[in-house]
Amino acid sequence: MDTITAILQNLGMDTVPQEPNTFPALNPFDIYRSHITELLSQCSGIDHKIIYPTLQWTSKLEMGDLQLAVPALRQKKKDMAAFAQELGQKFPTSPLVQPPVVNGTFMGFFFRPAPLTSLVLPMILKAGPSFGFNSNLGLRDPSNPSAGRKKMIVEFSSPNIAKPFHAGHLRSTIIGGFLANLYEGAGWDVIRMNYLGDWGKQYGVLAVGFERFGSEEELLRNPIGHLYDVYVKINAISSEQAEATKVKMDEIAKLKEKGEDTSALEAEVEKIKDEGVDEQARKYFKRMVDGDIEAVGTWKRFRDLSIEKYKATYSRLNIRYDDYSGESQVKEESMESAAKILAEKGVSQEDGGAVIIDLTKYSKKLGKALVKKKDGTSLYLTRDIGAAFERMDKYNFDKMIYVVASQQDLHLAQLFKIMEAMGRKDISEKCQHISFGMVLGMSTRKGTTKFLDDILRDVGDKMHEVMKSNQDKYQQVENPEKTADTLGISAVMVQDMKGKRINNYTFDMDRMTSFEGDTGPYLQYAHARLCSIRRKALTAVPDLPSDLSAADFGLLTEPHAIDLIRQLASWPDVFLNTVKTQEPTTVLTYLFKMAHALSSSYDHLQVVGSQQDIMIARLALYSAARQVLNNGMRLLGLNPVERM
Ligand code: ARG
Repeated sequence: MDTITAILQNLGMDTVPQEPNTFPALNPFDIYRSHITELLSQCSGIDHKIIYPTLQWTSKLEMGDLQLAVPALRQKKKDMAAFAQELGQKFPTSPLVQPPVVNGTFMGFFFRPAPLTSLVLPMILKAGPSFGFNSNLGLRDPSNPSAGRKKMIVEFSSPNIAKPFHAGHLRSTIIGGFLANLYEGAGWDVIRMNYLGDWGKQYGVLAVGFERFGSEEELLRNPIGHLYDVYVKINAISSEQAEATKVKMDEIAKLKEKGEDTSALEAEVEKIKDEGVDEQARKYFKRMVDGDIEAVGTWKRFRDLSIEKYKATYSRLNIRYDDYSGESQVKEESMESAAKILAEKGVSQEDGGAVIIDLTKYSKKLGKALVKKKDGTSLYLTRDIGAAFERMDKYNFDKMIYVVASQQDLHLAQLFKIMEAMGRKDISEKCQHISFGMVLGMSTRKGTTKFLDDILRDVGDKMHEVMKSNQDKYQQVENPEKTADTLGISAVMVQDMKGKRINNYTFDMDRMTSFEGDTGPYLQYAHARLCSIRRKALTAVPDLPSDLSAADFGLLTEPHAIDLIRQLASWPDVFLNTVKTQEPTTVLTYLFKMAHALSSSYDHLQVVGSQQDIMIARLALYSAARQVLNNGMRLLGLNPVERM
């Protein structure tokens, strides 16, 4: 703040403009909004509270840095355009902003370049990796930081053990990782939770399969792949048996019609029923539910080994979890106590031995939900109800986000409505479903996709080929495999986050790995290039000052430099807006705009080869740009590379 105060004093301003709940030390736009509000209020008599929120972003730099739609000031005027003109004329001369440009009923405000530069660049260079983020937003009480931070659970990824990690899980992982970073950047206390699909009769099937086809060695070597193989094999047998039963039943029916003896066939059917995979699995799962030590032990080993493997893959994506929960972890008691409340409140009804909840009385779309099967066992939905209550007990969260594909919109809507119907609006209100569309055409080059690792390997390989096509550069990369892997991951993630979450997109390996167009590699290239400019400057002038914030910013007068600075200044606002939209594309759109502005500036703003003081000033500008790019990329979960 001291630098800001000093800079403003130099301009003849004795205080830093600050409206309530704004953060001038963190966000240059807050200074400008407050300042414009003050001046407009002075010359019009309109209240600060009315003016401040009407100051909006522009869609293009040519329209100004901020704009105001005069009718939004809610003044009773016959001719709004004339009123806009009048305000424009009355607006006092300011050291920070140019006289407003009035266009119809709009007023456009352009920040004066020199003061903007001297405010923004040191702010970025000093704040470094934290520039743009605002940890005040997560405070329980902004006026009293000791009251602590708000708590949030982000539940994401949540794959099913022994089943493929499909595109829905990939998107959940990418979007959830981003949301967790986003809220952490806003100062929330974030718990990253993975809610594994690890319970239900299918895990009895898996255990039965393992007894037949399992290999200890394979399990340890490649638990996820091996369990999947076992699962596929045993399921094939189970389907065969179901098919055989059907054929035999038909046969029995025919024989009966003819009045012939069916006892032999009936015995065969009976045998499958008693000894078949299905029955064995049912029994096995029953043992798991009853807490049989051996059954639970085996299942737990499958689970633990899978988690270990998942962890390694997640870490390639810069993701770690605080809590590996899962359907298996939901306690019977939690589900029972929920069932009791549901029955007492008349929310649930018995239905031929099962228990259902008729949600059509709230909304037709919600339908009827089954919460207990005839045999008394729980369902996916039942476990989610129990889990939500347990999470509230354990974490006392202020907000909980479920990052789950749009195929489960109904499931989550039912879950939230059921909690509300139970009288727990206090919990349901804190829950949010972050939904997203499908990925079309995702398959590996060797066949259809099964696991995340396969996808990442394929994209990494492809990236490696792309890199090799430029041998000169390729020779300079220290660890090409590692870089190719990082670039491949960026390619996948950027393609995923480019559009609005709810849109479907087509998984297009060629497009995502290209350096042209708005892709992950393109963004990485923009970052690497800025790193290289710095390296080259250091080689050319080894005694460059390490503190670039002392550069002579008055030397940055070219339009390209100024436009870049104006864009850099808006990063904290882009962050704020992203907290509102919860859309990664809000960040990406900004980063691509900046990357474009950067690439068209290099010819105009050379560093090496310029006079030393100009070189230092430009290097400061590029360092600030690198920092903002880096902060945005990390927010998205990308791993910015320094060379490629
Ligand atoms: N395991 C589930 C699936 O793969 C996703 C879990 C989503 N989270 C939840 N709380 N239901 O479909």
